Formats: sequence, C-alpha cells, structure tokens
Amino acid sequence: MCGIVGYVGPRDCTDVLVSALTKLEYRGYDSAGIAVFEGGKIEVAKTKGRLADLSAKMEREGKPQGHAGIGHTRWATHGEPSDVNSHPHSGRRVTIVHNGIIENYKQLKQFLIDNDRTEFLSDTDTEVVAQLLDFYYDGNPIRCIRRTLHELRGSFALGIVFADRPETVYAVRCESPLIVGQGQNEVFIASDVPAIIKYTKDYYLLEYGEIAILKNGSVQFCSLHGRVIEKELHTADWDEDSAEKGGYPHFMIKEIHEQPTAVKTTIMPRIEDGLPNLAECGITFGTLRRLKNIFIVACGTAMHAGMVGKYVIEKLARVPVTVDIASEFRYRDPMLSRDDLVIIISQSGETADSKAVLNLAKERGARTLAIVNVKGSSIAREADMVIYTHAGPEIAVASTKAYMVQLAVMYLFAFETAIAKGRIDETECRHLTAELVRMPKIIEQTINAVVDVCQYVSTKLITADSLLYIGRGLDYALSMEGSLKLKEISYIHSESYAAGELKHGTISLITEGMPVIAVATQNTLLEKTVSNIKEVKARGAMTIVICDENADIDKDAADYMIRIPQISEMLMPMVATVPMQLLAYYTSVNKGNDVDKPRNLAKSVTVE
Ligand code: AGP
Repeated sequence: MCGIVGYVGPRDCTDVLVSALTKLEYRGYDSAGIAVFEGGKIEVAKTKGRLADLSAKMEREGKPQGHAGIGHTRWATHGEPSDVNSHPHSGRRVTIVHNGIIENYKQLKQFLIDNDRTEFLSDTDTEVVAQLLDFYYDGNPIRCIRRTLHELRGSFALGIVFADRPETVYAVRCESPLIVGQGQNEVFIASDVPAIIKYTKDYYLLEYGEIAILKNGSVQFCSLHGRVIEKELHTADWDEDSAEKGGYPHFMIKEIHEQPTAVKTTIMPRIEDGLPNLAECGITFGTLRRLKNIFIVACGTAMHAGMVGKYVIEKLARVPVTVDIASEFRYRDPMLSRDDLVIIISQSGETADSKAVLNLAKERGARTLAIVNVKGSSIAREADMVIYTHAGPEIAVASTKAYMVQLAVMYLFAFETAIAKGRIDETECRHLTAELVRMPKIIEQTINAVVDVCQYVSTKLITADSLLYIGRGLDYALSMEGSLKLKEISYIHSESYAAGELKHGTISLITEGMPVIAVATQNTLLEKTVSNIKEVKARGAMTIVICDENADIDKDAADYMIRIPQISEMLMPMVATVPMQLLAYYTSVNKGNDVDKPRNLAKSVTVE
C-alpha cells in the first residue's frame, strides 16, 4: 500500500526522499510525490506513475532544493491514479502525506464545506485531512494534530509539514506502520525499515497515537497531549544488501534462492537437543496441553501456509483446526473460548484484516499466537505469543521465502503440540525434527534440480488463458498456493481444485491444450490422483505433474513431469513449493511482466 518517507538532515532532501521511496516500491503504488522546504517555503512535486516519472518531471520543471521534507508513493483508494490525486496534499498552511484510510472523510468534508472551506482539488480522503489540519491550526502543531485526530476514523499514518515551522517534520501513527530512523545528525520517517537502511540501521517504532517531531537532525516523541515520551531504539539485524537484488534480475528469484538460509535461521534456534522448543516464544507445554480448538486465520499466501498447518497439526496432534480467511472470519461472529488458540500468520504483521481478527480473538478471551516475519510489527506486538520467522526482508510482492518459513514454523508447532498432547513419543518427535533440520539442504538441491525444467515448462504456459492446479490432501493445500503464485504474477487465470472434486463440475472446463498442473507428492493418495490426471488428459488437457523422484506414474499420464527429491510425505510441501514458485516466476518473466511489482497489488495490505 502507500509508502511514507520523511527526512531532516544535511543531505539533499529530494535525493534522500526519492531514494527512500524507491525502497518502498515493493509495497505497490501508482503515483509519487514529495514536499520539501526550500527557502522557507514548501515546494511540492508530484505525478501519476512511477518514481522515474517523478524524477523526469523534476528534471524538466526543477527539483526542490532543501534539507527537510516528506515523500509518498500512493496506491489509489479514493480517486483514480492522477497527478492531482497524488500526495502530498495541502491546506493553506499544512502539507501532508498519508498511508491508510479515513473512513469518515465524507462527513468531514461536509463539515469543512459548511465552514467555508471549499477549495478541494482532489477526490482523496487525504486532502480532507490536510484541510482539517489547516482548519484547526492555531500556531500550535501538537494541539492541531490532536484536535484533527480526534475527528478522524480509520487507520492511518501521517507525515506533516507546517509552512510556518520550516525544517521540521511531524509524524503521527494511528494503526498504519511508521518508523523513525536515527542517523548521525539526521532523522528519517518511513513506512518500513528498507527505506532507511542505506542511511541507518537504528530506528524507533512509533506506537498508536504517538507524535514524532523531527528537527535539527534529531527526534522528540510526545503523546497527543504533548507529554514527552522516551522510546527504545531498535537496530535492524540485516543490512542494505539484504534489501538489494544482489546480482539477481528480480527480488523474487533472489528470495527463492534465500529459502534454505531462511528456513535454517528460523528453525535452528527453536530446536534443542533434537526436539522443538518454543518456550522462548512464550509457548509452554501447559498451554498446548489445554488446547481444545485451533483457529488459523490469515490472508492470501499466509492463509495457505495455515492450510498445510491444519493437515499436519490434525494428523499429529489430533486437535481440530479451522483455517479461515481473515476478511471472512472477522465478520462471521466466530465462536471462541478461553481454551481456543487463534493463530494469526502474517509476513508483514500489518495486514488490516488479520490485525482485526487478532483484536477480535483477544476481545473474546481466546489465546493468540502470531507467526510474523517483521519484527515489532503491530500483530507481533499485540499477540499473547509470537513466533518470529527469520526470512529477512521480503521485497517481491509475490511471497516465497516468507511462505516457506511459515511452513517450517507450522511443522515445529505441530511437533511440539503433538508431544505436549502425548500423541507422539519423543523418539518419533526426534525423527520428525531431524527431517525438518535436513530441509534447508533439500530445498537447495530441489532448486538446482528443477530450475531448468521449470523454465522450459513455463514456455508452455505463457499462451494459456486459464489453467487448473489440482491435488489431494496436503497436495491440495499446496496447490492453492501454486495457483495464487502463478495468477498474481503471470496474470493467467488459475484455480486450485481438490482433484477428487473435479468430476463434480469443474472438469467441464477442460478443453484441448488447457494446462492442468497436478501436485502428486502424497504416496498414499497417488493412485487416486493419477486417475484424476488421466481423466483430464483424456479430455485434452496438457498435464504437468509435480511428483517425487520415485513416484510410479505412467509416462503417458503426464505431458511434462517435474521430479523432486523424495522425503517423508508430511514434509513434501516444503519441497514441492519450489517448482510451483519457479513455474510462476519464469512464466511471468517470459510474459515480460513486472515480476516483483505485479499490477494492482501491494505488498502489505494495510487497509480493509
Ligand atoms: C502473496 O504472494 C501475496 N501477495 C499476498 O497474498 C499476501 O500473502 C497477503 O496479502 C498476506 O500478507 P501478510 O502475510 O503480510 O499478512
């Protein structure tokens, strides 16, 4: 979604803002802009399109010169992507950038119109906030921010400059994430750490309702009531290189290759003497033993990791698991009790619907566990327990390594719950854990083994209008992710289907040459899946089968076979994910798409 940056310091502010915004491009955007203090006045440059368009515009029309300012990449919500709807937006004395949504902007606009403020240029909710700040501004910025925030409903973060407070940037957070970077005699604001990592690794996390005042290269924090707040300084444990492509053509392929390391870094600190140990994440045997029901709630890829988790937890620990989409769960009045555990999975830890589910679960007395990649994110901070995945920054919109580590955590959690519940003994748990420890090596071998065939098979997919992913059991859970990955970056319509369900309607879609990708890694279900593959083949489908190296499948059932290393059936999802990611990646590359920033999508969905 939108990205906010701000800077106060000795460098060329415009250069810093543009460079920081470049690092937020992954969030998705359709326009960009900056506002910089130049000679005591606020100069604004903004445009529809990419940051390159903004730079070209500034080249033509003049680049604001100064040392303090704010910047923004916009992902349109209110009003089409256009120059005029781009941020920053201004009132007479106030200019702002905004991430999030103001739910009551129409009422506020009417209030302003009723009070003779009629100069609205854009269709945005943001301009209403700028005008409202201006309306309340009496020379005291904090009082004005407080009064304005009191009126706003929604979740948002703002970067603000006041015309009569030169060289000063104000920032305030209400739900939407915002950090403040502290460098040597310079300070930054940003929606995410990658924006500032080039300049500093040290940052503060702004909390709900806190205001940051950036001036003279340093920052002061206060509450909405002006009370000074001391905050803890965090240091990022990764560097600029982690947020760079490092020689790869796209972040997505780099992140696919980072998976072995990501899994290792995620699981190894949670294994002690050959057994999982999640105590450091606040998860005790007592909690696990008492569990009656588990709800795994998330969005998109994270929800798909939960689908795999359901199969594994139910099989090993015999605890019923419900998996739901956060945007559905939050509105279906779920039945939750104190002995239930609600697990929220989220790479960003800021997804609006997932966050709302967390709050709902807490309100209803359930225990909550967050599985999150971004340290200090809202979901991680608000859950009762948290297991951080250590994937490092994931920049490509299409999630790969974050999904892989979410799977790894699902396994660790399932093993620990199973042993706590007395469903498996220590020997079996050790055996399972040892197999999980082998996964980084096996994932690496798989990438090397299938990269060429995936590249080749992807050339057969590029002309397809529509395709199906099918599988049974864990393969079905996995095929949901394969299908999402492919559609989000290749723009080919794709559905995932439980293979046994095809005959109940969907098989009528099969036409000559339609690709059907079958995931067939579950040996206990192999014969049945093969029958389903033959059924679609007999009706003209072009079949691509992902199976293990020893699977006994007739050559004539598959037009293309992608063989992967064989490990225990239960852990196959972590291997079979790799060819699905590569098929999506190369199909997108072959179609000439913007792989890392697919159209209409944002990395972190911070609005409902
Ligand atoms: C994945 O490729 C997606 N782009 C998307 O489905 C994502 O997984 C979803 O928006 C959830 O995000 P989160 O993990 O940050 O909560």
